[in-house]
Amino acid sequence: MSLQGRSVVITGAGTGIGRAIAERALKEGALVTAVGRRRAALEELATDGPAQAVPEDEAAPGAADRIVRAAVERFGALHGVVNNAGLARFGRLEEADLEEFDRMLAVNVRAPAELIRCALPHLRAVGGAVVNVSSVGGVLSMPGRSCYGASKAALNSLTRSLARELAPEVRVNAVLPGPVDTPMWQELGLTPEGTRDLRENLLSATPMGRFGTGEEIARWVCQLLDPDLAGWITGALVPVDGGRTT
Ligand SMILES: NC(=O)c1ccc[n+]([C@@H]2O[C@H](COP(=O)([O-])OP(=O)(O)OC[C@H]3O[C@@H](n4cnc5c(N)ncnc54)[C@H](OP(=O)(O)O)[C@@H]3O)[C@@H](O)[C@H]2O)c1
Repeated sequence: MSLQGRSVVITGAGTGIGRAIAERALKEGALVTAVGRRRAALEELATDGPAQAVPEDEAAPGAADRIVRAAVERFGALHGVVNNAGLARFGRLEEADLEEFDRMLAVNVRAPAELIRCALPHLRAVGGAVVNVSSVGGVLSMPGRSCYGASKAALNSLTRSLARELAPEVRVNAVLPGPVDTPMWQELGLTPEGTRDLRENLLSATPMGRFGTGEEIARWVCQLLDPDLAGWITGALVPVDGGRTT
């Protein structure tokens, strides 16, 4: 129960990797403020006890402030922020919809920055931690996925710079997943054949020969939140990727 009594905001907690992080954090005793746009998905967590659902579009004006206030009002403090919510739209640059690129930057970069900023006074007060769920796409060259990769590279840069800027009071790290089976794979903006080809290519580029699971990502996120395990780790970009970046 290494996160016992620690209040943690988790974005994108209703599905996929975020759901696995929320379930893992609850198992470890955390008090979870679960954020996403769809209330029903969030309420599948134990929202009558150690978890609360806060349905918000985190890119909307004022959302970060409302999320932080909800966490502090319900649980009395804020020890951790997990910026997991993300948007992935793939495609070659000539065909890319630049409004979708703006949306990716808003959800994958600006919203995490704003949430960290709003949470800072509370995180500073308790020696808290931030974990950003980025992607191996932020460190690899990714033809056909350049806009998404650029948004995750920006999140990596934010992580490393803020680690120095906010030390020693607040630690800031990122986990970089390789391919994980989640609902994201149905919403990439590719044709079914394009999605199938991409999955096959990624499998052959992954030395461990399989996709990861949300739980495999969640364990590392929770370890980085835990001051007993990770109290001397900040600015780390931790690949959890089946060897994809080797
Ligand atoms: N799956 C992979 O292979 C993979 C690999 C590397 C990195 N990642 C990263 O892992 C993270 C989680 O993705 P996933 O694979 O678990 O996909 P997912 O199931 O589609 O999760 C994305 C979550 O973000 C939430 N979300 C999206 N836009 C939001 C917004 N504006 N405000 C609030 N919540 C929002 C969604 O909930 P609502 O729709 O209800 O808002 C959803 O729960 C993302 O940052 C993704 O880039 C995934």
